[in-house]
Amino acid sequence: MLSATPAKEIVSLERVGLQYNDDKTVFQNVSYNVFMGDFYFLTGHSGAGKTSLLKILYKSVRPTYGRVSVFGYDVDSLDRSDLPVFRQHIGLIFQDCRLIENLSIVDNVALSMHIAGSLYKRSRAYAKELLDWVGLGDKLNSFPDVLSDGQKQRVSIARAVVKRPALLLADEPTGNLDDDNAFRLMALFEELHRMGTTVILATHNNQLTKNFEYPQLMLKNGTLFVNIQKEGGKGRAAV
Ligand SMILES: Nc1ncnc2c1ncn2[C@@H]1O[C@H](COP(=O)(O)OP(=O)(O)OP(=O)(O)O)[C@@H](O)[C@H]1O
Ligand SMILES: [Mg+2]
Repeated sequence: MLSATPAKEIVSLERVGLQYNDDKTVFQNVSYNVFMGDFYFLTGHSGAGKTSLLKILYKSVRPTYGRVSVFGYDVDSLDRSDLPVFRQHIGLIFQDCRLIENLSIVDNVALSMHIAGSLYKRSRAYAKELLDWVGLGDKLNSFPDVLSDGQKQRVSIARAVVKRPALLLADEPTGNLDDDNAFRLMALFEELHRMGTTVILATHNNQLTKNFEYPQLMLKNGTLFVNIQKEGGKGRAAV
């Protein structure tokens, strides 16, 4: 049964470490709080642990040690049966899209809103609006297998934002997009942020981090650094 303690932090990490099996440590002793209304880029080279850290936040990966709470829930103590409710308020954009192959793209986007209780007709109408916005208004009834990778990515973004989540965890959401589309989608994330969503956006895209002045969480050599300064500053370790 879910029970929350009141918390101003949306995400709280206390001395969190991760090591897969007997492999080398991915990160160690990461402590950081993300507050309601924050917007962070999560950066770091390939293999630094960005996806792993996001997975820990939605309980797809269990940290090796440390305490993680999201929305005030102690993530480790959530049962499998709690997860749908816990994730109801999290918008997830996966690096590999994960669309449902046997649903049209409009239904892929409408589904989470419908599951959350909206009428099917209303969910589809809002899904159409969002798909128009991401430039896929002419593909509503297509199935994922006929879309390019960038188009799939745009569908997965529409799907994540359709339920106006309290927390958006976006893993390389613009990885398959050209700069024009990436900037357009950043405008969508900013709009969502303005409406109150807390955003953590993992990215390799230097154009985004250069052009949008949000603070950065950077994973490097197993340590989380925060507020990396522009012009080559080093930032400070988040411990
Ligand atoms: N399920 C797993 N089992 C074992 N090792 C894993 C697993 N998932 C990731 N790793 C390893 O953990 C490290 C961090 O991977 P992760 O995918 O979190 O990095 P990333 O920063 O998201 O990289 P990229 O920018 O390429 O997406 C890598 O060395 C990776 O090989
Ligand atoms: Mg990744």
